Amino acid sequence: MRTLNILLVVGVAALFSPHPTSARDDTITEKSTGKDVTESVLRLISRSNIFPSDNSFLIRLAYVESRFGLNTNTFRTDYYGGIWQVEESVFRSTQSNHTSLTNLITAIESHFNINWHRLTWRDLLKPLHSGLAAALYFSRVPTSIPGTIENQAVHWRAWYRPLGDAAVFIADSEELKNQTRCRGKLDLCVLLDGSASLIESFTKDYTRIGMIVFSNGTSDIFQIDNNLSIEQMAAFARNASYPGQGTQTDVGIFRAISMFNNATSNEGVPKVLTVFTDGGSDRGSNMTGAIQAIRDNSIKSVSIGIGGTLNNTELHLIALNDTESVFYVNDFAALNDFLYTITSVACEIPQRPAINASVSDTLVQDEKRYYAVELPSQGITITLTINSGRTTGYWSRTESVPSSAVHDGVITGSVFISGGNRQAGAASVYVAVQGLENMNNYTIRATQGNTTGAFLFLNINLLAICIKK
Ligand SMILES: *[C@@H]1O[C@H](CO)[C@@H](O)[C@H](O)[C@H]1NC(C)=O
Ligand SMILES: *[C@@H]1O[C@H](CO)[C@@H](O)[C@H](O)[C@H]1NC(C)=O
Ligand SMILES: *[C@@H]1O[C@H](CO)[C@@H](O)[C@H](O)[C@H]1NC(C)=O
Ligand SMILES: *[C@@H]1O[C@H](CO)[C@@H](O)[C@H](O)[C@H]1NC(C)=O
Ligand SMILES: *[C@@H]1O[C@H](CO)[C@@H](O)[C@H](O)[C@H]1NC(C)=O
Ligand SMILES: *[C@@H]1O[C@H](CO)[C@@H](O)[C@H](O)[C@H]1NC(C)=O
Ligand SMILES: *[C@@H]1O[C@H](CO)[C@@H](O)[C@H](O)[C@H]1NC(C)=O
Ligand SMILES: *[C@@H]1O[C@H](CO)[C@@H](O)[C@H](O)[C@H]1NC(C)=O
Ligand SMILES: *[C@@H]1O[C@H](CO)[C@@H](O)[C@H](O)[C@H]1NC(C)=O
Ligand SMILES: *[C@@H]1O[C@H](CO)[C@@H](O)[C@H](O)[C@H]1NC(C)=O
Ligand SMILES: *[C@@H]1O[C@H](CO)[C@@H](O)[C@H](O)[C@H]1NC(C)=O
Ligand SMILES: *[C@@H]1O[C@H](CO)[C@@H](O)[C@H](O)[C@H]1NC(C)=O
Repeated sequence: MRTLNILLVVGVAALFSPHPTSARDDTITEKSTGKDVTESVLRLISRSNIFPSDNSFLIRLAYVESRFGLNTNTFRTDYYGGIWQVEESVFRSTQSNHTSLTNLITAIESHFNINWHRLTWRDLLKPLHSGLAAALYFSRVPTSIPGTIENQAVHWRAWYRPLGDAAVFIADSEELKNQTRCRGKLDLCVLLDGSASLIESFTKDYTRIGMIVFSNGTSDIFQIDNNLSIEQMAAFARNASYPGQGTQTDVGIFRAISMFNNATSNEGVPKVLTVFTDGGSDRGSNMTGAIQAIRDNSIKSVSIGIGGTLNNTELHLIALNDTESVFYVNDFAALNDFLYTITSVACEIPQRPAINASVSDTLVQDEKRYYAVELPSQGITITLTINSGRTTGYWSRTESVPSSAVHDGVITGSVFISGGNRQAGAASVYVAVQGLENMNNYTIRATQGNTTGAFLFLNINLLAICIKK
């Protein structure tokens, strides 16, 4: 009976909603607003590798200044600062020919195809342009962006909003942190030199966490398969001793892989290795082998540089050359605020459900879950069934984090994505599912080829039977 109900709902949805396939990119649409738009802009900026890491400052700035553009006076008459509310004088200063800006402006031209000198203030109505202006401006102020919210509030007042109230910046940033909905399913292995707070920001129901401490050897603090509460894990982590003799990162990585492999299998759930290190592995260590082992085991690896003297080459090596997975924390005090950033990144790592497998999950309001499936040449059909509540889905061939702001299509019921024009090599389809009501339960399934027809047919039949009765 229950199955019939579910299929009926989908059947109706598939019947009455033609599959919208219109691609969308709101990052350059004037006056588009919202969290998805803001996050997409910041993702583009971060991926461009033009600017150093901003420690989540720019997203806080967008929230504090205009609530991601949703404040009703964001686009007031004769004001063109956009989502980041970049004042005209601030914008002008980013157009000067100051030497500190020349390289950045050249990089913006070649990466984004935007001629910065030709822009007018009015162009900042486009989210990407407003975000770039803020990023440019802050890269030319004499002090770099600090790590903690408190220090960022001071920085904001000093350089951006002289009449602003630092307490408001702090309160808004805390509010934003509080809105982060993330219970992404992860198997996480923390390999570190010393802090317990990381663990406390994950939800035990969704994340299995293991922890290893390394120096000249490694010591397992707890396994990925454990029955500890979050509080118990934190206690163990705090209690761990950090010998601080040498840095055998390779030995730590091999141990972490062993820990992942010893954990009971959790099909399709991403494995994430977070390595806190100064990147200064001891001479003669087998980093090449360790990195290859991370790749061979399909582990997502994130490196977090801690301390003053860092070996960037090694941090990038650990992050498998993905610049977006390299982070810097000036000191342990900044670590807590930094966790907001790392949590958001971890949550965007897609699960990889097997073809034909039905994966069910629940989402709270505004929470998102990401999936990636391989795109075979015959294409793929993605079916999103709502069991309770309401969800919306977005897919993309190119954007690994699709959203309402950037996608190739919306998923209602069943959608067929052709494999015809995929690029050479392995191609993927990325999917995001977002919860719209307080509690939402859905099932997602990927099938090879165009099975929308078969699906639709099946449902029409069921519908017919139902009506007859
Ligand atoms: C900066 O240099 C560009 C290109 O050489 C030029 O078009 C622009 O007018 C200069 N801007 C200022 C403020 O001097
Ligand atoms: C964070 O959320 C909780 C629960 O929704 C709420 O009680 C608390 O006041 C919020 N804190 C801030 C700073 O918004
Ligand atoms: C690490 O160094 C300490 C102090 O030098 C030593 O006692 C210990 O045996 C070393 N451990 C390994 C695994 O080399
Ligand atoms: C965790 O608890 C379950 C049930 O209580 C038990 O079967 C299992 O052996 C425990 N696992 C560990 C690693 O202690
Ligand atoms: C902390 O470490 C001490 C000494 O190694 C040990 O006696 C104690 O049981 C540990 N406590 C926890 C919670 O692991
Ligand atoms: C994983 O299991 C193997 C074989 O039992 C064992 O030798 C190894 O130490 C285990 N690894 C971890 C991290 O516990
Ligand atoms: C380095 O690690 C790899 C495993 O990835 C192993 O095959 C190789 O023998 C190791 N090399 C050395 C010198 O230990
Ligand atoms: C930095 O790390 C890389 C890779 O491990 C290594 O080859 C290089 O020698 C290191 N540089 C310094 C200055 O230690
Ligand atoms: C990573 O980047 C370095 C430096 O750019 C390069 O030498 C190396 O081949 C890259 N490794 C991979 C696996 O792409
Ligand atoms: C998925 O199911 C279809 C139909 O039952 C079957 O033909 C196909 O081989 C399956 N594909 C995989 C990868 O299991
Ligand atoms: C979500 O719905 C599916 C299908 O009705 C069900 O099997 C699953 O247990 C539900 N999950 C939760 C967490 O309620
Ligand atoms: C997929 O199949 C359905 C039903 O046969 C058909 O209406 C639709 O046009 C097909 N889509 C594509 C892109 O071929």
